[in-house]
Amino acid sequence: MFIEENKESKAIKQFSRFAHQYDTYNMIQAKVANRLVGKLTETYYPCILDIGCGSGEIYKNIQTSKIDFDKFIALDSSSKMLDLHPVHQNIEKISANFNTITTFNQLEILSEETLILSSSALQWSENLDFVFEQLSQKASKAYFAIFTANTFKTLHKVANTHSPIYTENQLKKAIEKYYHATYELRAYKLEFLTIRDMFQYIKKSGVSGGERQLGYRETKQLMNNYPLTYLEFEVLFVEATPFTTIVGK
Ligand SMILES: C[S@@+](CC[C@H](N)C(=O)[O-])C[C@H]1O[C@@H](n2cnc3c(N)ncnc32)[C@H](O)[C@@H]1O
Repeated sequence: MFIEENKESKAIKQFSRFAHQYDTYNMIQAKVANRLVGKLTETYYPCILDIGCGSGEIYKNIQTSKIDFDKFIALDSSSKMLDLHPVHQNIEKISANFNTITTFNQLEILSEETLILSSSALQWSENLDFVFEQLSQKASKAYFAIFTANTFKTLHKVANTHSPIYTENQLKKAIEKYYHATYELRAYKLEFLTIRDMFQYIKKSGVSGGERQLGYRETKQLMNNYPLTYLEFEVLFVEATPFTTIVGK
């Protein structure tokens, strides 16, 4: 199934807006990227494609883990985030949206030996089926870390709102249509000194994806009623091998 190019999504706008402050607010994403890269089993990959690369957490971890590669493709739809990504002669930056077929057609150059990585980005897939089908055709191995709907669980419960991102089961169901997969589900907590700091974090980290479900009054109420001193996160780590790889199609 193909999706046409559409307007810049709310999530992308939110990342661009706060790109200059992103590194100060990405403590959890930094841990997640570190863990994801820690799962790699090889010390050399000919080509690595990072989907939703942001300011380069994956690349930085690849460097510190002394993993070698010939080419690193950093793909992100926010050009402001891409600007923050390290530059090197073997890094190619691609400004593109993983929700569109144009993007995947552009990736025809990939070889079967390509490794796909994606950390803290695929929760913004507009259509999971489309994204995993496309990804599964582009490389023979992939590792994903994807935030689940249990992120901000208590906050959503208190506010009586729904998570804008997918549940663990929805993710697994879509992944298993195209991949043999093994999983690790991890919970994270981020402590805050004040509720105000907590809400600033939500706004600037990009984890809310620009999804604004509450008005001023409701947000104030939520700040008064939130029972925890921390925010909850849940991440599904996936090691995935496609059933079939049709490279260069
Ligand atoms: C939470 S950040 C994670 C960045 C980086 N992977 C990391 O681990 O720090 C999510 C990134 O995904 C990008 N993104 C969100 N939706 C996207 C889309 N549809 N296509 C491409 N990139 C997207 C955002 O611009 C942002 O840089």
